Formats: sequence, C-alpha cells, structure tokens
Amino acid sequence: MNQFLYFVCVNGNKDLLKKEIELFYPSLVPSFSKGDFLTYKNLGKNYSLKEIENFQFAFALDWGINDGDLSQDAIEARLSVQKSKINLPEEAPSRAYLKIAEAYKRFSLQSDANINWIEFGSAPGGASFFLLNNFGALTGVDPGKMDDICLDNIMYEHLSVPIQNLSQEELPNRPVHYIASDLNLNPKQAIKEVIRLSKKYRMLKGIFMTIKMVKVEHVKLIPEFVKMFEDAGHENSIKVQLPSHRREFLIYAPKALRYIKSSFKDTP
Ligand SMILES: C[S@@+](CC[C@H](N)C(=O)[O-])C[C@H]1O[C@@H](n2cnc3c(N)ncnc32)[C@H](O)[C@@H]1O
Repeated sequence: MNQFLYFVCVNGNKDLLKKEIELFYPSLVPSFSKGDFLTYKNLGKNYSLKEIENFQFAFALDWGINDGDLSQDAIEARLSVQKSKINLPEEAPSRAYLKIAEAYKRFSLQSDANINWIEFGSAPGGASFFLLNNFGALTGVDPGKMDDICLDNIMYEHLSVPIQNLSQEELPNRPVHYIASDLNLNPKQAIKEVIRLSKKYRMLKGIFMTIKMVKVEHVKLIPEFVKMFEDAGHENSIKVQLPSHRREFLIYAPKALRYIKSSFKDTP
C-alpha cells in the first residue's frame, strides 16, 4: 500500500518546501494540502520509521507518516509547531533573538560564561542580546548600527566592517568556540567568507549559519552549501527550519572532532 507523508512549513515558505521535496524526494507526489499542511503520496518504496526520523529538510518544520486523519482539528494540531516556544523579551533589539534562542534549544546548547562567540551580520542585535545573556565574550561584525543594549555590555565588541573586508588578524585573539552568521548576503559568498575567517580558531566547535533564499531556484544549491562546510572540516552538518525563520534556514556545521586541537591552550 502506498505510504502518505505529511509536512508542515513556516508560513510563507511553502514554495521552498515544495521545491525541496520535488528535487530531493522525487518519489513523493503532492496529494491533499491545506495552507501550510501538505501531504504527499510515496510512489516509491515505503520509508521505514527510522528513515523518516532521519530525514533532513531545510524547509519543513515537521513531517511524518500521515495517519489519515485530515480533520481541521488534526491539521491545526500539526500546525502548532509553527509557533515559537520562546518569548521575545521587550528589550530585545530584534526578532532575530528568537532564531538563535530556538537554535540554542534545538541543539541543546548549555549556557556557559567561558564559551565565546563571533556573530557575522549582528545588527541591530537581537541574537547578540541572547548570546550575551547566555555566554561569554562576543564580537559582532556588521557595518549596521548595533543597539546600545549590546554596545554597553562589557563582554561585547563591535567591528563595523563588511565581512569581506575583514582579515583574520582583526578578529579577537581569544579562543572562539562558536560562530553565528545571519548575513544578508548571497549564500555562497557568505559561507566562503565565514569559513575563511573561522579558520583562525582551533577551538571552534561549530558554525550556526543562517542561509537566506532570495530565489526558489536556489533550493537546488543546498547540497553545494553543505559541501562547502564539509570541505572545510565540518562533518555531519545539519539543516533545520526553525519556527522564527522567514525565507531562510539554518545549517549547523559542527567542527569534526579531529580538527579541534584542544592541546593548543594559548591559541584561538
Ligand atoms: C538579518 S540582519 C541580522 C540580524 C541580527 N543577527 C540580529 O540579531 O539583529 C542581516 C545583517 O547582515 C548585515 N550585512 C549585510 N551584508 C553584510 C556584510 N557584507 N558584512 C557584514 N554584515 C553584513 C546587514 O547590515 C544586516 O544587519
């Protein structure tokens, strides 16, 4: 018997999810859909539960086997994943606070004052505000203006420079453990620049890279984006869609353990 799968997308990203399924899961054909709830019939071999669990989608918030209940209540229950579980503090400089807070939760990060970050594309400072509340030193890179709530924090340093004009020498010499990037730049250029600068840091654990999709045709480039990280020593990169994403998704690119030189205590 043919299997039916359901998908839920972020409001406004349905075209991106449909393109992703069409390109990378060609055995799935569109079936019933309502708003941001979509179902597909699997014309190929049925997927096992394990395979479905291990699927990775850039533009699906949730997916699974459709149990046949297409009532309004059942659909609304599925669509509840669209709501962020995080509250946006009044003083947060931007809604980007939610994106990094959702990533923090999704990847079970632990708050730690000894963990330092760099954020590329940091203005006006929603994500920086979250990071300053949960971690140690933070350097934000963005020619745009940062909110005073970040600038006034002694753990914060702002480099008002476009990333492509920045050299490794201008970045802090302290160890940096994570990089976040939320640049309004084309994805290939953004990834290239972030990887170039990330190589300064031997203690780096991973990169949280928000990828902006300007055109739906760019969905076909997603494997190339992931490969750019692989080629730079980041294995097992993970694509995720978070409830507060707009026309974007996140690649979390952990640094492969063998590249983390923990013996270099005095170097970044
Ligand atoms: C989506 S906003 C970042 C929001 C920010 N993360 C926050 O939490 O408020 C994208 C940012 O990318 C910055 N940007 C665009 N091109 C850039 C470049 N070449 N170098 C550095 N920042 C850039 C823009 O100035 C803008 O502030």
